Amino acid sequence: MKSQYVVGLVGVGAVAVLVGVAGCTLFQNEHVKKGADLYAYYCSHCHGANGKPGVGFNWKLMPDPKPKDLSNKDEMSTLKDTEIFETISRDMKDTTPNVGDKIGDDEFAVPTMPTFKYTLSEQELWSLVAYVRTLHGMKLEKADWDSFKKERPKMAAVPKPLVTASSDEEAQLTGRGKQLYFNKYGCNACHSVGKTGGQVGPELDRAGFRLNPSWVYRWIKYPQSMKPETKMPNLGISDDDAKAIMMFLKTLNAPPPEKPLPASS
Ligand code: HEC
Ligand code: HEC
Repeated sequence: MKSQYVVGLVGVGAVAVLVGVAGCTLFQNEHVKKGADLYAYYCSHCHGANGKPGVGFNWKLMPDPKPKDLSNKDEMSTLKDTEIFETISRDMKDTTPNVGDKIGDDEFAVPTMPTFKYTLSEQELWSLVAYVRTLHGMKLEKADWDSFKKERPKMAAVPKPLVTASSDEEAQLTGRGKQLYFNKYGCNACHSVGKTGGQVGPELDRAGFRLNPSWVYRWIKYPQSMKPETKMPNLGISDDDAKAIMMFLKTLNAPPPEKPLPASS
C-alpha cells in the first residue's frame, strides 16, 4: 500500500515536470508566433515571406545592397542572437556636423535596413529575432522573456518646428537633408522619387507641393503619434535632422502626374 502511494506521487511529479517543460516550449512558441505576425507586417515587403530574396514586393525596388537571404543557414548562423537584435534595434548615431559621426557610418546595418528600436517593444524585438531564427532552421539560444519591456516606446508630443530659415541656411539644410534621407535613414528604401526607390510608402516626388512642412516634421519625428499602426517606423530622428529632411522634402516639386512631360527622345 505504502509503495503504491510513493509510485503514485512519483507519477504526479513526472506529470508536473512534463507539463512544466511543455509549458515552456509553448511559451517560446507563442513568442515565435508573435514574431511571425510582426515580421509579416513590418519586414516581409523587403525580406520576403520566408526570408528569401526576390519574394517581397519591395525587394527589387530597393537600392543596393538588397536584403540578404535570411533563410541561408550558412550565413545566418555566423550571426549571434544579439547581433540580429542589434541590427533590427540599433540606436541612431549622432551625426551633428563637426562633433558627431559621419553620416552613413554604421557597423551593424546599411541605412536602408530601418531600426525598429523606437517603434516596437523589447519583447516584440526579441520575438522577431526568435522568428528570424526559424527561417534558417535555428532556435533562439535563450531569452529571459519576463525581463523584457512589453511597452512600445512612447515619446512626448512633438512641438511645431520653426519652418523658416534664411536662404543660405535653407540651402545648407536642404543639402544635409538629402544626405540624411539617403545615407542615414534610408528613406529611399520605402519611398520613391523620380520612380527610383521602394514603394512601401507613397511616392514623394511632389512632397513639396502636397505636404505642409510642419506636418512633415511632426510625421517623420513620430509617425505613431498620428497613426499608431503605420508601417513607417519611428526612426529616432533628431530635431536638427528632422528639420533638414523637412527642408529637403520641400524642394521635391515634380509636375503633377496628370500632365506627363513629353518623351525626351
Ligand atoms: C525597407 C526594407 C527593409 C525592411 C522593412 C526591413 N529590412 Fe532588414 N534589411 C534590409 C536591408 C537592405 C538589409 C541589409 C542587407 C545587407 O546587409 O547587405 C537588411 C538586413 C537585415 C538583417 C541582417 C541580415 C544579414 O545578413 O546581415 C536582418 C536580421 C534583418 N534585416 C531583419 C529584419 C527584420 C526582422 C525586419 C522587420 C522588423 C526588417 N529586417 C525590416 C531591408 C529591410
Ligand atoms: C519601412 C518603410 C518606411 C521608411 C524607412 C520610411 N517611410 Fe515614410 N512612409 C512609409 C509608409 C508605409 C507611409 C504611409 C503611412 C501610412 O499611411 O501608414 C509613409 C508615409 C510618409 C510620408 C507621408 C506621405 C504622404 O503622402 O502622406 C512622408 C512625408 C514620409 N513617409 C517621409 C519619410 C521620410 C523622410 C523617411 C526617412 C526619414 C521615411 N518616410 C522612411 C514607410 C516608410
